[in-house]
Amino acid sequence: METVRFVHMTDTHMNAPGREVWSVNMAEKAKRIFQDVHTSGFDPAFVVITGDLAQDGNVTDYAYIRKLADEGSALVNAPVHVVLGNHDDRSAFREGYLGAAPSEQPYYYSTTIGGLRLIGLDSEVQAGKETGFGLIDREQLDWLAEELKTTAPNGTVIAFHHPMLKVNNVASKYNLTNADEVSAVLKTGRDLIGVFAGHVHSHNVGTYDGILQVVGGGSFTIGKRVGDGLVAGYNVCSYNLVTVTYGQASVETINLPTPNEELFRVELSRFAD
Ligand SMILES: [Fe+2]
Ligand SMILES: [Fe+2]
Repeated sequence: METVRFVHMTDTHMNAPGREVWSVNMAEKAKRIFQDVHTSGFDPAFVVITGDLAQDGNVTDYAYIRKLADEGSALVNAPVHVVLGNHDDRSAFREGYLGAAPSEQPYYYSTTIGGLRLIGLDSEVQAGKETGFGLIDREQLDWLAEELKTTAPNGTVIAFHHPMLKVNNVASKYNLTNADEVSAVLKTGRDLIGVFAGHVHSHNVGTYDGILQVVGGGSFTIGKRVGDGLVAGYNVCSYNLVTVTYGQASVETINLPTPNEELFRVELSRFAD
């Protein structure tokens, strides 16, 4: 085994210029992260973005995101892989990002880079678009069970959008609804390092059913209680640098400087269990 690094980004919520969210240039943050990885000399095997690539993106948005991902990939000299979140649109993604025929089929894959296997799963469900919950369907779980019968030289990391882990201050209704089914399949793997996710816009690391789960904060954080039954969201720019050695992962969260200004407030009751 050897040491392998990868970069975990999440919830970039990027749209093409002119369609930005809260008038914040989210794409600029992704560019800053790629630049920081390059400048810091981290030399990752790959970059994975765990969903909500776009904020309700169309084909043009995904074509723009692909261009940005390609530029970032060239800068850090590593492939960029993505999974989809509840804000993503599978058909628009396939057309704009992959240059493939539009389809609502779940987007999932396995790839091994630098001896480290990355398995990306699709936890987006149509019914969860508004309410925010996710699910990994039976077709993917059967495929995953087959895939995990083999091992990779430096281990296996799993990426999907909705956390299994119950995250502080976020209701479990936003999680993966079939987390027990998913963890049961994951535990059949003999070289599993951990699960990397996003969605809840809050840095959280913990275990679910004994499986390491790392949740990134993304391009804005939600969760700070500001009184009057409200929770605020803040403008941040962060990513995780993950180092895998001898099948073990260490995670360094890197926060790039931002004004950290408040972007919005929402009712605390939305986050209650
Ligand atoms: Fe998100
Ligand atoms: Fe999400």
